[in-house]
Amino acid sequence: MSSKFYITTPIYYVNARPHIGHAYTTIACDAIARRHRMLGDDTLFLTGTDEHGQKIERSAADAGITPQQLTDRIAGEFRGLWDRMNISYDDFIRTTEPRHKLGVQEMFRRIRDNGYIYKGSYSGQYCVFDELYVDAATPGSPCPECGRPTETVSEENYFFKLSAFEDKLLKLYTGQPNFIRPETRRNEVMAFVRSGLRDLSISRTSIKWGIPVPDDPRHVIYVWLDALSNYCTAIGFGSPEEKDQQNFAHYWPADLHMIGKEIVRFHCVYWPAFLMAAGLPLPKSILAHGWLLFEESKMSKSRGNIVRAETVIDVLGNDALRYFLLREVVFGQDGSFSFDALVQRYNSDLANDLGNLASRTLTMIARYFRGGEVPYPSSGGSRTAADDAIARVAEETIASFASFWDDFQFSRALEAAWSLVGAVNKYIVENEPWAVAEKEDEGSRSRLATILYTAAEALRIVTALAYPAIPESTARIWEQLGLGAISEFRLTDLKWGQLQHGTKLGKVEPVFPRADKSAIERMQQMEQQRTLAVPTAPAQDGPLPAQTASPMPTVAAPAATPDGRISIDDFAKVEMRVGQVKVAEKVKGADKLLRLEVDVGTEIRQVVAGIAEAYAPESLVGRKVVLVVNLQPRKLRGLESNGMIVAASVGDKGSPVLAGFLEDVPVGARLK
Ligand code: MSP
Repeated sequence: MSSKFYITTPIYYVNARPHIGHAYTTIACDAIARRHRMLGDDTLFLTGTDEHGQKIERSAADAGITPQQLTDRIAGEFRGLWDRMNISYDDFIRTTEPRHKLGVQEMFRRIRDNGYIYKGSYSGQYCVFDELYVDAATPGSPCPECGRPTETVSEENYFFKLSAFEDKLLKLYTGQPNFIRPETRRNEVMAFVRSGLRDLSISRTSIKWGIPVPDDPRHVIYVWLDALSNYCTAIGFGSPEEKDQQNFAHYWPADLHMIGKEIVRFHCVYWPAFLMAAGLPLPKSILAHGWLLFEESKMSKSRGNIVRAETVIDVLGNDALRYFLLREVVFGQDGSFSFDALVQRYNSDLANDLGNLASRTLTMIARYFRGGEVPYPSSGGSRTAADDAIARVAEETIASFASFWDDFQFSRALEAAWSLVGAVNKYIVENEPWAVAEKEDEGSRSRLATILYTAAEALRIVTALAYPAIPESTARIWEQLGLGAISEFRLTDLKWGQLQHGTKLGKVEPVFPRADKSAIERMQQMEQQRTLAVPTAPAQDGPLPAQTASPMPTVAAPAATPDGRISIDDFAKVEMRVGQVKVAEKVKGADKLLRLEVDVGTEIRQVVAGIAEAYAPESLVGRKVVLVVNLQPRKLRGLESNGMIVAASVGDKGSPVLAGFLEDVPVGARLK
């Protein structure tokens, strides 16, 4: 029976551009939403951006732009990326929109009217990175969540009576075991709540970038109360319009909030408490996944170990990224991303297994059967046990795929679908349709029809199952099977034997071209260029604790006008000087990097540059180069890099060619 299904991603902070960590959550939600739609459910998939608070206010100030400019730009990047990635979100909420503001103020009012808000003053520590009050900390002590130094905040605030919800929350967690998943997170949350809850400050007077408290606009509402409310405001909460209220009544409560594990406390403790206080129903389930790691630590802007989704999709396409993330990472646990593993998975599972199954099955039908039509399978004498075995495996796969998928075990669901692919490929090899096709007698024709029908029907089933995970390529296979638009297919009654004989195939074309080794190099190079050529705005999330790498500038580009131009003032922020290379050597373990010592007139700078494949170190000593000298330092392979060498990027591979001068120029001269 179809029902409504409302799913949300976290709304992402707009202090930094999206990377594949964000894409991971969004892809998982997209895949879930697509399967629900395929099951006929009235599905609503929400994503968006979290645009208020001190972190954003500071990021904008550091970049020399207004918070609105920063948020417009980065929100546009998130949305633009999701569109490029074919993410099927139904709505994109920005917390700076009027509809959200209305709803947040209504939320505050309801909680206040129900007696859960009082005025007090907070004097204690605050972590700007996590936008978290750290009650137990003393001045200067690190944030228990991220390790960054906390800041002392002392101001008049409105407080939320969180302490009143201890028992109610514990009852919720025990009474509704699926409220928090997986169980490890649920246990952590329960331990946290059992250890006692203090009232929570829910307004700030020392910052301006937020939604004013109703009737007391000196205060802005705490960014987490603001942000969490998006799940309600996006579907009409707080709107005076009747149709919005009906929409809210229809879709709320959310069926699933998908989040990363680091924001469990906000979603599983604060959010249900806010909702209870406002007298609103609670979401049915909160699902926390693990982190995507790159080079062994959580991918994050401040660690500088980011991979951009664009890099992967430019080279291998959207489905390669989606398949890899859903198949390779055990959902709920941390998982590692690497270009090697990505290409290996792509080649083995997509190009080889599914790609081969599709192309040989469809090509043979097109070649051996008149009009390229799906042939009629025999139920008589030419039928063998192997044909029935495939039908049986397919039926079992439909069931096991559903049960793994419904339990968010995407990796195992896909594994199950791919064992059907493996079985059919083996069946084709063993039954040698190409040899059977050589014979003209009626028995052989009927045998050939049965083999190819069996292969095509199994292909249809795998394609339907895999669609939520890899929607673009399965849509193409579906069309090649002659079945039209896959998004219109209903999974509800998927079963063996529905492929009609006489179905006319579409144009048969390869769907997954094999990736060669150069794909890895290309992606690595693109990443290197994206990071080396990143504009100069500073990393906004403060210093990291000593045990992790130093911050790296990967924030927004200077403010651009709508046509993409920047002002002369923005350009003037980039300080480029003539430098002379004094020392050049290879960086151990990094084929592409050179460590340079460059004289910039006032000092010698160490710079790590991705030019080793184009320049031998000895050829550089004495050479004059152009250096961006006012970039924040960053670490590459453990070496601090203090500036960026300017180079042209040439050819498909983007080989670097160093900028230089025809005339002699003095070391230290500024470029303007
Ligand atoms: N704005 C808050 C969320 C408010 S929701 C009401 C926030 N934003 S965020 O930009 O930091 O995004 C955090 C989310 O992005 C994570 O919870 C996770 O869903 C996703 N991820 C960001 N980096 C990630 C990884 N490296 N790995 C996995 N997920 C990651 O917190």
